[in-house]
Amino acid sequence: MSLSSLEEIAAYLVSDGKGFLAADESTGTIGKRFDAINTESTEDSRRDYRELLFRAQGMQDNIGGVILFDETLRQSATDGTPLKDLINSTGALPGIKVDKGISPFNDSDEVLTGGLEDLDERCAEYFSLGAKFTKWRAVIKIGEGIPTQECIDANMKALADYAKIVQDNKMVPMVEPEVLMDGEHSAQTCFDVTANCLKTLFSMLAANGVNVKGTILKPNMVVSGTEAPVPAGVQEVAELTLKVLKENVPSELAGIAFLSGGQSDLLATEHLDAMNKIGGLPWPLSFSYGRALQQPALKAWMGQSDNKEAAQKAFSHRASMNRLASKGEWQKELEN
Ligand code: 13P
Repeated sequence: MSLSSLEEIAAYLVSDGKGFLAADESTGTIGKRFDAINTESTEDSRRDYRELLFRAQGMQDNIGGVILFDETLRQSATDGTPLKDLINSTGALPGIKVDKGISPFNDSDEVLTGGLEDLDERCAEYFSLGAKFTKWRAVIKIGEGIPTQECIDANMKALADYAKIVQDNKMVPMVEPEVLMDGEHSAQTCFDVTANCLKTLFSMLAANGVNVKGTILKPNMVVSGTEAPVPAGVQEVAELTLKVLKENVPSELAGIAFLSGGQSDLLATEHLDAMNKIGGLPWPLSFSYGRALQQPALKAWMGQSDNKEAAQKAFSHRASMNRLASKGEWQKELEN
């Protein structure tokens, strides 16, 4: 596979219904996932778990890119094969999370993502290690009096600065402005905040000279808050999400791959499918799920090597269901 330009790499990542496996949980986050299945998080257990995912049959054809955490990009499988080579052998491209997480913004409940200081040097190394794309996640919270425009501007500016540095280092930036689901807010409020973030983001990307044909957007869907009294249904989520994207995202963008953000695995698939059944979009609309791709696999695995095949089967099933959803070809009956 020779992919020489950023535009070719970006187009390949989301070609033919393929999406991303977000396996870039920080050491703290994967520790929480392992706690939930009574499994100790060690360098070896993290490696074993991720190796089983990358060796699963469902990687083939369904996954165009895998987002890794720093540790995983440097790790090797039990037989000595670098994990990034395992990923490449399935036809997927290895990518890397490069943000350094969130910290409080202006001493408030709002947060700002950091990691720009040494990003250029880190990107040069990640490129030499074989990463083809990167991810940076901004986190926007909805609540009493928030988000403020100041916080949105600061986070979108950081995303735009990140994207420019990454493209200068010959990798495709995935830009992730995540509006969190936590709260009682309506889907309309999520729509308004998401619209503001996307509009601000794309104007800052343009100001920085970022090539959007070599960029992937990883947005939230427009959903009701988790505590909303009357949550929006599947069709409403699909329609509002398509509307916010059509109104705020340039048509030249290479592709869109949603985060799952705490939606159940089935709902994340159903929403994506509903959008693609409506169709008529200028970009491929696919998935970049962490929890919604991995939850059933983690439950099946439980940290036991005897359960490896069951875990691989569970992951492969979700990967293939989501690829169908990216083409608007998923059906509920296929889940049985
Ligand atoms: P979820 O799909 O679990 O939200 O994770 C995606 C991700 O990469 C968050 O940064």
